[in-house]
Amino acid sequence: MKHFLSIANATPDELKHMLGVARRLRDERDAGKANDPVLAGQTLAMLFEKPSLRTRVSFEQAMIELGGHSIIMGQEVGLGKRESVGDVAKVLGGMVHGIAARVFEHQKLIDFAEFGGVPVINMLSDESHPCQALADLMTLQDEFGADLTGRSVAFIGDGNNVARSVAILCGRLGVRFVLASPEGYEFTPQVQKQLLADAPGMDLEVIVDPIDAVKGVDAVFTDTFTSMGQEDEKQARLEAFKGYQVNDGLVSHAADHAVVLHCLPAYRGVEITDEVMDGPRSRVFPEAHNRLHAQKGLLAVLMGGV
Ligand code: CP
Ligand code: NVA
Repeated sequence: MKHFLSIANATPDELKHMLGVARRLRDERDAGKANDPVLAGQTLAMLFEKPSLRTRVSFEQAMIELGGHSIIMGQEVGLGKRESVGDVAKVLGGMVHGIAARVFEHQKLIDFAEFGGVPVINMLSDESHPCQALADLMTLQDEFGADLTGRSVAFIGDGNNVARSVAILCGRLGVRFVLASPEGYEFTPQVQKQLLADAPGMDLEVIVDPIDAVKGVDAVFTDTFTSMGQEDEKQARLEAFKGYQVNDGLVSHAADHAVVLHCLPAYRGVEITDEVMDGPRSRVFPEAHNRLHAQKGLLAVLMGGV
């Protein structure tokens, strides 16, 4: 694995290894032990075209805990405006040891990987959010054990960046994935084809009815109905997603032991209710905390050769 632009960049064995490293590093931390400084002398340049709390803090803290450094940049870089992505990549690649970027167009990440000469990490694009998916499946491992084969996930809402990455990772780890979305917001046939190419033989279903989707599943996922950059569509989306709220009524159709995940930020009372977010099935905050551990697993493997 040279880059982590998509879950598809890592084989199932590499994904399991990263998650295993993440859990080991977390165990060490929980026991009050410092992690080995496997990134000593290394710097990660982090570039944000969109806002962030979890991703920014988890990566910066991960670099600190693994003995490295990070440099954080925002809109001032003028990616593709002040300077081409390729030129930015060539400059950064001669100064730092890794590049992580949160961008609108996924193509920018591909350009970073082509021209940077150092490992590139996708910290969210309009197309995917693989680092989130790592933390999400790590949270399911905490619940159900390291081997998730045969488990099932229902994702209720938009067939967006988060849903796509969770779907590929589920496919690669043998987890059934059902997406319930209103018409027009589901995975397109092209996305479905790509998913099946990335995770051959995966158990994937794309349906409209959220109740059918959650029946008997081990985990219910959701995300905002209006992603960053889609603010102009907010009203139309609120209309379209009526009936897709993750509330106690919907969750009651899942397995008795089912847990609920949300990548956050959550719009409470819209895609998820307070009762569910703060209720006994919610694993939303452990999931957020797992961003730190999952990012450490990823960085240790990708940049530290662990
Ligand atoms: N879940 C997630 O990526 O959160 P941020 O947008 O705050 O980084
Ligand atoms: N789908 C959301 C995820 C936020 C972490 C977005 O892209 O805004």
